[in-house]
Amino acid sequence: MDRELSNFTLVLFGANSDLALRKLFPSIYELARWGQMPEKYRIIGVGRSDTGHEGFRRLVRDAIVAHAPHIDTSSGYFSDFIRNLFYVEADLTASGGYHRLREEIQTGYGREETCSNLLFYLSTPPSLAPVIVRHLEEAGLGGKSLSCKGWRKIIFEKPYGKDLQSARELNETVGSVFNEEQIYRIDHYLGKEPVQNIMVFRFSNGMFEPLWNRHYIDNVRITIAEDFGIRDRGAFYEEAGLLRDIIQNHGLQLLASVAMEPPVDLGADAVRDEKEKVFRSLRHFTPASVREHVVLGQYEGYRQENNVAPDSTVETFAAIRFFIDNWRWKGVPFYMKAGKNLAASLTEIVITFSCPPQNFFGPPESCSYTANQIIIQIQPEQTIAIRFGTKRPGEALVTDPVFMKFDYRASFEEEGMTPYHRLLLDAMAGDQVHFIRQDAVESSWAVIDSIRSSMPESIPLPYAVHSWGPETGF
Ligand code: BG6
Repeated sequence: MDRELSNFTLVLFGANSDLALRKLFPSIYELARWGQMPEKYRIIGVGRSDTGHEGFRRLVRDAIVAHAPHIDTSSGYFSDFIRNLFYVEADLTASGGYHRLREEIQTGYGREETCSNLLFYLSTPPSLAPVIVRHLEEAGLGGKSLSCKGWRKIIFEKPYGKDLQSARELNETVGSVFNEEQIYRIDHYLGKEPVQNIMVFRFSNGMFEPLWNRHYIDNVRITIAEDFGIRDRGAFYEEAGLLRDIIQNHGLQLLASVAMEPPVDLGADAVRDEKEKVFRSLRHFTPASVREHVVLGQYEGYRQENNVAPDSTVETFAAIRFFIDNWRWKGVPFYMKAGKNLAASLTEIVITFSCPPQNFFGPPESCSYTANQIIIQIQPEQTIAIRFGTKRPGEALVTDPVFMKFDYRASFEEEGMTPYHRLLLDAMAGDQVHFIRQDAVESSWAVIDSIRSSMPESIPLPYAVHSWGPETGF
């Protein structure tokens, strides 16, 4: 991995998108402010509107002020960053814009440097990805066709495809223009500090790993709950639904971090080999098992949201009991619950250990009250708590559950990096460990497809806004 950063141009497709304005530009600016950008860099936004360079700079400035108010816009770094922004207006489905883009890239570094380092970022609807990639190739900006010194990389936003078939097709198209080492499929959950910490927590401590298996763990629960609805993303949600938006990527990545085997080293291939093995071991669903292990829901009022069909059957909630059919996890349920408009915003993993063989301190069923748990909270808090039973003060020998807690923010003073800041830095430096590899995309879609194709036609169960979703029975 090369952390020596070379001069480069970042080309951002979908430069006016909500993601770009809310998250990407503030993160790119943070890179500049932390001194993590190379000496010479340019950022070219590509979008439909005809804003010109100056209009685009104003747009980005306003977006940063609105969405990242902590950023000091009066600093010299900020004005440098704004000066490095350029804009190309393009209809992404036609070749004209790509030729203008090529010219803009060449303008930046002078004609002799047509092979300058290029990082493409697609913050665009998934259906545009193959179109953009083909046009890049046609304009001589593809990764494989590079015949001079310099590098090319491309970052794709999730969801990557919408099912196994489309992901395969996309992999094929992208793979004909870029090598796998040039492709960065982003899932911003993998840039979150407490998510990266799962591997460190598991493999840097001797005391947890020996117990981390079916002999000692009773179940794992993963919750990704949000207390808000789909906001203004009706059109996207109607195409995606929660299984594609959250479970296939964020949810399964969390599951893989908990379930993977220790990698042989920390290289991108070794780590991603182990995650992919988890996806391949996930039991697929059938019409019979889906009834028992999957509940989909839709919040009341979803059909009245903008750009949502009045009879929509799209899910905004899912509760799934996964099984991993491998040596370590056979028989241990991994419960996953995720949803929009739930009672609270909370992302958490709870690992519950089996009861001791004899329960001296209460009736057998009281074990669940004090069963050991490791609770990894990813947000809103960044904590790890261990629950264990202890003697309640007094005469009797009875137990009460108590917690030992580690809090990231209380323990470390360093200013944290946002997920996009961290992942952009990794992509610039050529580190793919926190990006999704082609085979993992496909094996995770295969599981989600098995749910979708086995689900009866019935509409998802309705649930009240700010509840915990429909009754699941598990
Ligand atoms: C995105 C989903 O990937 O992640 C959104 O498209 C979701 O629907 C968001 O709200 C959650 O991200 P975070 O980092 O706010 O938990």
